[in-house]
Amino acid sequence: MSILSGHSRIAGIAGWPVTYSRSPRLHGFWLQRYGIDGAYVPLPIRPGNLPTAARGLLAAGFAGANVTIPHKLAAFEFCDTVDDTARRAGAVNTLVFRDGKIAGSNTDGYGFIANLRAHGVEPATGPALLLGAGGSARAVAAALLDAGTVVTIANRTRLRAEALARDLPGLRIVDWDTKDAALVDHALVVNTTPLGMVGHEAIGLDLSGAPGSLVVADNVYVPLETPLLAAARAQGLRCVGGLGMLLHQAVPGFHAWFGTKPDVDEELRRFVAADLLAQ
Ligand SMILES: NC(=O)c1ccc[n+]([C@@H]2O[C@H](COP(=O)([O-])OP(=O)(O)OC[C@H]3O[C@@H](n4cnc5c(N)ncnc54)[C@H](OP(=O)(O)O)[C@@H]3O)[C@@H](O)[C@H]2O)c1
Repeated sequence: MSILSGHSRIAGIAGWPVTYSRSPRLHGFWLQRYGIDGAYVPLPIRPGNLPTAARGLLAAGFAGANVTIPHKLAAFEFCDTVDDTARRAGAVNTLVFRDGKIAGSNTDGYGFIANLRAHGVEPATGPALLLGAGGSARAVAAALLDAGTVVTIANRTRLRAEALARDLPGLRIVDWDTKDAALVDHALVVNTTPLGMVGHEAIGLDLSGAPGSLVVADNVYVPLETPLLAAARAQGLRCVGGLGMLLHQAVPGFHAWFGTKPDVDEELRRFVAADLLAQ
């Protein structure tokens, strides 16, 4: 870590637990690469304490913070302003402190779309099928709709998909049990559930009827190659892993706090992936 001066800009990630977060490593890489006088630190903040803690960070001169589990919904409530990305996602993952105020946004949708494009996939190429209707599905669905994509949701709990469709007009719904058959009508399928993550069962999506042009994206990045991606790759389908989304979603926050728009490249990917592979 570089030596800080009295002018250093400081940001961090608020979560509980926060020990698993790769964000300090990711932002630390960029701070070092661009020779920035700044730091990005883990902020272990217990559930319920974020409103007080965030006002404290603001008062202490922090530039801002990322917000992760379990604070993303609470952050939405206490921000002085929230932008459209946060409003449509119903959650905040990035706080920017400016002029004594806390501005909230949600960069997950941006990160998802930027990662797709980095893989050469244009989101509006064809209809997308999202598996899951949780927090990240909300952000991804909103971003895809904004990009002009036709979006269908399949969620285990249909009521939750219906709630999402009420909030995001234009969203279509199919039953969770029909997701395999629905693949044929889609250009992109996205796993937004934790299924396939270390400690969770695989999603068990049957790709045998999928068109050869289907792009398979998995937002899970631990492991880097999920059972879904491995099955898709074995079938010759194009794959988009979740690590790139994590890297790209960090760009707007870093830019706002430290004044440099950072690059997401192979060197960064390898640096963060090495930490995941070491687990
Ligand atoms: N790559 C990235 O940058 C990035 C960003 C955000 C999230 N993620 C990953 O995305 C995943 C989901 O995160 P989230 O915040 O959206 O979670 P969440 O809000 O808790 O939503 C979880 C979703 O998964 C569904 N689900 C959970 N267990 C299931 C099961 N056994 N069978 C079928 N469906 C199941 C839930 O369905 P019900 O409604 O039926 O409960 C819900 O729709 C996590 O693994 C997270 O690490 C990655």
